[in-house]
Amino acid sequence: MEVLGIDIGGSGIKGAIVNTKTGELVSERHRIPTPKPATPKNVANTIKEITDHFNWTGKVGCCFPTPLTHGKCQSGGNLHDTWKGVQVDELFGEKTGLKFTVINDADAAGEAEMSFGAGKGKKGLVIIITLGTGIGSGVFFNGDLLQNTELGHVTYKSEPFEIYAADSARKRDGLNYKQWGKRLNKYFNHVNLILSPDLFIIGGGASKKLYKFIEYIDIDTPIIPAENKNEAGIIGAALAAEIGIK
Ligand code: BGC
Repeated sequence: MEVLGIDIGGSGIKGAIVNTKTGELVSERHRIPTPKPATPKNVANTIKEITDHFNWTGKVGCCFPTPLTHGKCQSGGNLHDTWKGVQVDELFGEKTGLKFTVINDADAAGEAEMSFGAGKGKKGLVIIITLGTGIGSGVFFNGDLLQNTELGHVTYKSEPFEIYAADSARKRDGLNYKQWGKRLNKYFNHVNLILSPDLFIIGGGASKKLYKFIEYIDIDTPIIPAENKNEAGIIGAALAAEIGIK
């Protein structure tokens, strides 16, 4: 089965056609910079550009950088305040005439990893943490997703931890990997204490650079990189549309 997967991020909106049986991309990725401001109207226009680019008429799975319940956005997140309360699947559906399934980006990345990547066949409590503009989380127990966890929003000094430890914080504060790794050490110890998972998987752009900071994270729980890297959101979103997560 082929589904168009779209990953909406703070800097780019990326789409590709995914074979949902194998998790492979069967087209080139098409990327358009996220419009500024990233309002619902502007982003919907970009989504239409992507579906038009692929001349797509089938199902679309889309992942989005905020928590969503049944396709409805629960916060403006890192995109724009006006997203809160928007029924995102309907907005994109009306704009394109196509059927959309929209889920949180870290949940989507986690789905891709559990089905086709580093989490495949892993039992117990597996937590994917995506390190990018924000910190996202996908929590799986025996392969089943607990949707919309927001482990980037546990607090540190009264602020969401992601402000202190996301990849964007590394760039903003000009940190080297040792300095960033020490911040991540505090973060992973905190999450580890709360949930005692069996495995952490690191996703987002930082998964490729894990070897640069892993030595500073001192916990007993294994930490491994995601295998689908930048494509995990696209693949997981397509999968969600195929198996009907809402
Ligand atoms: C949002 C999450 C999202 C993460 C990564 C956070 O700011 O609250 O929903 O998964 O960023 O994009």
